[in-house]
Amino acid sequence: MIGVRVCILDDLQEKDARGFRVTPPDGEVLSLIVVRKDGEVYAYRNHCPHTGINLEWQPDQFFDPGGGFLQCATHGALFRPEDGYCVRGPCAGDSLEAVPVRVDNGEILVLV
Ligand code: FES
Repeated sequence: MIGVRVCILDDLQEKDARGFRVTPPDGEVLSLIVVRKDGEVYAYRNHCPHTGINLEWQPDQFFDPGGGFLQCATHGALFRPEDGYCVRGPCAGDSLEAVPVRVDNGEILVLV
């Protein structure tokens, strides 16, 4: 695995989630959700386990109105930000596909 730069840590505020597209050296573009919560950074493939489509309804709009869960805009599935587990919705019990991530020297890297 190699680290592919996503953004600098300061681009992602606490309780923020943003969408990114990164291109690893093998050329396959990855659509990602990157989340910062309680000082930790998490990354997931931006594919709802229900139908495989992107979660957001507008760019970088991933949190539900209460701010506690990532939400799929299509049918409302709710996912825990810290592990991607779906707690409610048509794919309850499934999870977003986690992507290994690390913060190195103030930069967020995904390991692909
Ligand atoms: S497509 Fe995400 S809940 Fe149906």
